[in-house]
Parts: sequence; C-alpha cells; structure tokens
Amino acid sequence: MDALDGTEIIDALLTPAGSANPYPIYARAHRLGPVSRIWDEMLLVPEYRTVHQLLRDSAFGVADAQARGGFDPTFHEHSARLLLSRSVLENNAPDHARMRSLIASVFTARRVAALAPAVRAAVDRLLTELADLGADGTAVDFMETFAFRLPVGVICELLGVPESDRFRFRDLGSALSVLLEPVISPQELATADAASDELVDYLGELADQRRAEPRGDLVSALVQVADGADGRLSDQELLANLLLLLVAGFETTTNLLGNGLALAFEHPWAADGLRSGRISSAGFVEEVLRYDSPVQLTNRLPLVEGLSVAGVPLSPTGGVLLLIGAANRDPARYDRPDLFDPTRQDSQALSFGGGPHYCLGAQLARLEATCALPALLSRFPRLAPAREPVRRSRLVLRGYQSLPVTVRG
Ligand code: HEM
Repeated sequence: MDALDGTEIIDALLTPAGSANPYPIYARAHRLGPVSRIWDEMLLVPEYRTVHQLLRDSAFGVADAQARGGFDPTFHEHSARLLLSRSVLENNAPDHARMRSLIASVFTARRVAALAPAVRAAVDRLLTELADLGADGTAVDFMETFAFRLPVGVICELLGVPESDRFRFRDLGSALSVLLEPVISPQELATADAASDELVDYLGELADQRRAEPRGDLVSALVQVADGADGRLSDQELLANLLLLLVAGFETTTNLLGNGLALAFEHPWAADGLRSGRISSAGFVEEVLRYDSPVQLTNRLPLVEGLSVAGVPLSPTGGVLLLIGAANRDPARYDRPDLFDPTRQDSQALSFGGGPHYCLGAQLARLEATCALPALLSRFPRLAPAREPVRRSRLVLRGYQSLPVTVRG
C-alpha cells in the first residue's frame, strides 16, 4: 500500500472511505515527499512548510473567473459558480485587495469582540434547549440542535438577518459549500445554482432594506462602504461577499464544534481537563483545528511562468492542491502528529489558511468554539455519545452530518 503514487493518493482521498478517514492516506502522502504529481498537470502538496509558503507566495493565486472559464467550458452557465467568483475567495490582486480591505473595514476585530456577550447568551440558551430535549434520556442530535444553530445564529446576528429566516440556511449552505469539493456531480451543481439564486434574492432584498433604513449591523455597514463616493463594490460583488460571509460563517464553525465534541468523547481526560480548567479552551480548540481541520484542502494556480514547487517544475496551465489536513499532521513539523494533545504550544495549524486569503472569520470561529465547548462539557458532566456519529460525505469541509448524544447518563 505504501507504493501509492500521487494520483493514487488523491483517488484514494476521493473515495467514501478516504474522505471518512483521510489521515492514513495523508501519512502515505508524506512518505512520498513534499510534492507529487497528480492527474495531468497538477501537483499535490502535503508538506507543512511548502503549504505554508505557497499560501503566502504572490506568484500563486486562487482560481478566478478567467481561470475557471478556461478549464470549465460550462462555468458561465452556473449562477452559483459565477457568484462565488465575484467574492474575495476567488479573486486575486488587485480586485482581491480592494474587496478585502472594504470588508475588513467593517468586519473588524472590535466588532467581533463586541459579540462576546451575545455568543455567551446564545450558548446558554442552546444548552438549555439541549437539556430540555434530552431531559428524559432521549438521544439528541448535537449537530442539528447546537453545532449548526450557534454559528448560524451568531453570523445572522452580526449581519442583521432576522431570526425567523435562519432555519432555511442549513440546507442552502450545505448545497453551496459543495462547490469547494474537487469533484461534484451535475445534480449537486444544479442544487447549488438553485441555492445561490434563492440566497441572492434574499440578501438583495435585505441589502435594499438596509440601504433605505440603515441599522447597526454588518449588512448596513457593508452597503454603506459599497455605495461609497468612489463606488468601490459592484452590486454583484456586494451580494457575492454577503453570501460568502453568511455561508462561511456557519458551514465551517458547525464542523469545528462537532469535530471538537467528537474528540472530547474520544479523549475523556482532555474533556475533564477542559471542565476543570486544567486545559485551556484556547489550547483545546487550537488542537481540534490542527488534528481534525474543518477545511482539509485548498488550491492555487501559478500566476507567472516558470515556477516550481519544492524543486518540481509546474506547467503554466497546471495547479497545486494544498493538503491543509495533511500539513497539520506533518511529522517534520509536529512531534507525534497523530496524537491529540491540547497542551501543545505554538501549534500554528494551517486550518485558517494563510497569506492574503487568510480566513476573515478566524477570530469569530475561535470565539464561538472557546465559549461553547467548555460550557457544554461543564453543563453536562455525563454527556455521552448515543450512537455512532455519521460523517458528512465531503473531503474538503470535514465534519459530521449527525452526532447523537445523551445529556444525562
Ligand atoms: C473553523 C472555522 C473556519 C475555518 C476552518 C475556516 C477556514 C478558512 C480557510 C482555510 C480560508 C482560506 C481559503 C484559501 O486560502 O483558499 C478561509 C477564508 C475565508 N473565510 Fe474562513 N474559516 C472558518 C470560519 C469562518 C467564519 C466564521 C467566517 C465568516 C464570518 C469566515 C469567512 C471567510 C472568508 C470571507 C474567507 C475569504 C478570505 C479571502 O479570500 O480573502 N470563515 N476560511
């Protein structure tokens, strides 16, 4: 089995068994070296040092609309793909810097820090609901009742999306985030287009309302800077970035909470440490991010000719798959990488990316998880898995579809 080449590695990752547990496959990828060739002109990079460096290298960029149109002739027929290509996530300099600085000017560290009391209140409320639902010993799905509801509530609060509209977002978010997967079916693409159209209509109306009657929320603030004197964000860009903030705001953090609870179940000493305060919530959350990252891979394209990656030449029409999940388990970077150790110092996992596209929501995701996980474990000292959890069938966004628990033993 060790004799797998790069293509066999990626093929193995794309099987249901591979995406359910990619870590043994990542270990084999490390044994192949820092980079290996896959498919026609692509390179696969599992090494921490190289992933870290490529994310920051201005000679590489994300696949933008022009690049995507080049390798996917149907790209322009898909509203979801087109919309995402107008967001920060799929633009390079100079458009990326223009959009990102506008968003960052309103989605500030101060605004996120000010959310802390609202996050604590939401955690308390959801824990009480969990207690009520599981009071008679019934199994409750943690993903549905808590892991999804907390981040969706928080991002909607931040954006200014009314409470009554939030229940629709779980399915719509899931339909859209499939676009991040390396291989998707025509049916999934059609569902993503429909989800994108529905959310664009919804967010367009919300933006119009806030334009007419601004409030203290992020949609009002973003509409204001978008409409600024120098007309800095087009209407399409405004909607694309609002949609990205909404979906990125819960799809990933939901998985961080689920992956974190599953790891607490697998490592009762760590859960006890978190309850007693012997293990810091920040240390626990950083180790969850490293050990089982909610985002497992991203990709980059060369922006200039004549590049190579760790000595391997890259064709100008090639690309690079950066295995974040493998980099976080790189034996050259981490002592005993397959050990879950929330007392690690200076872990600096690559789960939020790096360089110009570094995750805009990292501070918010950390705030939610460091508040929620210790509160959950302390509130329910006998919290336990009720049945085997079910993983989502995704490679890129790694998390659980369901994680049934009982709150009292
Ligand atoms: C555990 C939770 C999260 C993880 C693991 C995560 C991961 C990432 C990663 C890896 C990237 C970079 C992708 C690349 O370079 O190709 C990214 C970008 C981004 N994330 Fe997150 N994210 C999380 C939570 C959030 C939240 C809560 C928000 C919004 C409130 C958010 C908004 C964004 C945005 C807007 C970008 C694009 C930034 C850019 O392209 O300049 N993320 N995220």
